[in-house]
Amino acid sequence: MTDLLSVTDLAVGYGETMALFDVEFSVGAGEVVTLLGPNGAGKTTTLLTVMGFLEPRRGSVRAEGRDLKGVSPHRRARDGWTYVPDDRALLANLTVAENLSIVRNAKADPFELFPELEALRGRRAGLLSGGEQQMLALARALCTRPKLLLVDELSLGLAPLVVGRLLTALREAADTLGSGVLLVEQQVERVLEVADLGHVLVRGRIEMSGSAAELRANRSVVEASYLGERAADPEATAPAVEPRPGALPGVGDHAQPETPQLPNR
Ligand SMILES: Nc1ncnc2c1ncn2[C@@H]1O[C@H](COP(=O)(O)OP(=O)(O)OP(=O)(O)O)[C@@H](O)[C@H]1O
Ligand SMILES: [Mg+2]
Repeated sequence: MTDLLSVTDLAVGYGETMALFDVEFSVGAGEVVTLLGPNGAGKTTTLLTVMGFLEPRRGSVRAEGRDLKGVSPHRRARDGWTYVPDDRALLANLTVAENLSIVRNAKADPFELFPELEALRGRRAGLLSGGEQQMLALARALCTRPKLLLVDELSLGLAPLVVGRLLTALREAADTLGSGVLLVEQQVERVLEVADLGHVLVRGRIEMSGSAAELRANRSVVEASYLGERAADPEATAPAVEPRPGALPGVGDHAQPETPQLPNR
């Protein structure tokens, strides 16, 4: 079956600075794929490029085999791709109910997805706790029954209990709706409990890819890559996990993109 999302040979930069090199991965229907990696690795850049906010210098983003070059973020959203940014992009002065009522293409009742939100209907989003805000952001995204859901920094600043609840909701969306989920996450152990596949991005390159089980079994290697230790100890990679070194283009090899329209970050 053709993947919902496939990214091939992706190179992306900001002005003179390249942020992604030779990035390749895919997300199938019903699959939860996680992008791991240290700060500044290029995780958010990857999501922004998939969603069409940034133009690749090279490579492609494909939806079910169709190259999305030139397709706007708005169009990608209309076609069923939903992006939950790391700041959650809620309207702080609107209530929970109002934030949910302005979703244009809702196909499910968000209060059924997250009954916890019922008691908070009338509360302004800006007054919710971090966990409640993330729940609202996911409710808003999941009520559209997205084909592909991109979530940046799901668990940032949240307590373990609520993180488990949110990860379970994403797993269920994949299992019951067939959504593809691409999840950027810092809590390696938690996310590998629910993901199918993971990729470790370091300085703009995918350094390791594998099934969640393989990455769990090699957790020390995954975590070492966060600290930049892998380069010093290449033997540390166990064979089950596929290393992805690359022959890489230099900065400035490609034409400058148009000035990207970035969402609030
Ligand atoms: N608007 C921008 N202009 C210039 N450089 C940028 C811009 N946004 C990001 N970068 C750079 O691109 C690289 C990748 O950043 P990105 O935000 O994608 O990393 P990240 O993996 O999401 O990090 P974090 O875990 O801190 O969110 C970093 O070196 C960053 O400084
Ligand atoms: Mg980021």
